[in-house]
Parts: sequence; structure tokens; C-alpha cells
Amino acid sequence: MSDKTVVKNRIKFITMDITGFDGDCIVNAANNSLLGGGGVDGAIHRAAGPELLQECRTLNGCRTGEAKITKGYRLKAKYVIHTVGPVYSGSPEDPVLLESCYRNCLELAKQSDIHSIAFPAISTGVYGYPTEDAAQVALKTIRKWMKMNSEYGMDITIACFNEQTEKAYEKYAQGL
Ligand code: AR6
Repeated sequence: MSDKTVVKNRIKFITMDITGFDGDCIVNAANNSLLGGGGVDGAIHRAAGPELLQECRTLNGCRTGEAKITKGYRLKAKYVIHTVGPVYSGSPEDPVLLESCYRNCLELAKQSDIHSIAFPAISTGVYGYPTEDAAQVALKTIRKWMKMNSEYGMDITIACFNEQTEKAYEKYAQGL
């Protein structure tokens, strides 16, 4: 068996602070300005140092559902992929935009030759997306991407941060 067939896509759930992730890339749940904020965004900027904000200033923001990449600076992770989740409104647009966040992050990671990536639970903090609904969208999207890119070898970590998020993922994790 060649290396290519040995390394397959994998997904795991860990309760952790995403800034400590020791892999190729972490995902940031940012806002449209990409100029920092609270929650996981604030934590990532604090851990990466001021160079991250400097690079973010050159990106001209990011549309909801899209993704942009920077270096990781003082983080262990080499790259940060910044995405902007929807502010929860209860409309049918919400899951469409959230799905596009996960898909675009994975596509950008693949284009950047990234093979390990950690996601936070995008939109489930300040942006108010119900945790269980968001976990369902995240897992459905990740599962679909893994199927379509089965030979790539992407190691996907979901950084849960709290018990509520972990439980929501466990509930929908069957079949992965
Ligand atoms: N590691 C992992 N997960 C975390 C961490 C961390 N260090 N800190 C928080 N979480 P949020 P959003 C979890 O609010 O809802 C920012 O101000 C948190 O428990 O960070 O997408 C941006 O600038 C929750 O489950 O992001 C935007 O303005 C999840 O990460 C806005 O918040 C997402 O919570 C984006 O809101």
C-alpha cells in the first residue's frame, strides 16, 4: 500500500482551547472586517500576536460564508483560515451560509496543502446559532467533503471548548 492510500481523512472531537492546536491550521470564527473581536477570534489574535492583525488589514475583509488564509505567526499552527459565520436569524439562509463556511475552509485548506485543521463551533457564540443545529450542519458538510475528497488525507479536529458543544457533536457524530 502506498502512503497515499494509508493516509485517509479523519475527524475527531476534542475539548480544547483551539489556540493550542498543534497542527497545520486553525480556523477562526471572525467577523466581516477580519480585524479581530471577542470569543475565539480575540483568543486567536492574542495568541498569534500583532503580526496577525497586520496581515488581516491587507485582506479587505471577508464576506459571510467565505474564507481567507493568513500565517499563524506565534501560534503552533502554521496557518489561520478566517471565516465569517452567519449571525443567527432563524431564516433558511443560516444553514446555507454556515455550510459554505465549512466547505470553503476545507477547500482553501486543500488548495494550501494543509493536512490537519481544527475548527471551532462557528457562529455558536456571539452570533447566536443554536449549538445542536450548528453541529448538525458542520458534521453534514464535513462528512460530504470527506467523501468527495476521500484520498486527500485531511485530519479534522473539532475544538469543542465546552461540554454543551461536545454533547451536540456526539449526538450527530454517528456514521462518521
Ligand atoms: N477555542 C475554541 N473554541 C472557543 C474559544 C477557544 N479559545 N473561545 C471561544 N470558543 P464565538 P461566533 C467557542 O463567539 O459565534 C467574535 O467577536 C465558543 O464557546 O467566538 O462565530 C468575532 O469577531 C463558541 O462555541 O464566534 C465575531 O464578531 C464558538 O467558539 C463574532 O465573535 C464560537 O463563538 C463571531 O461569533
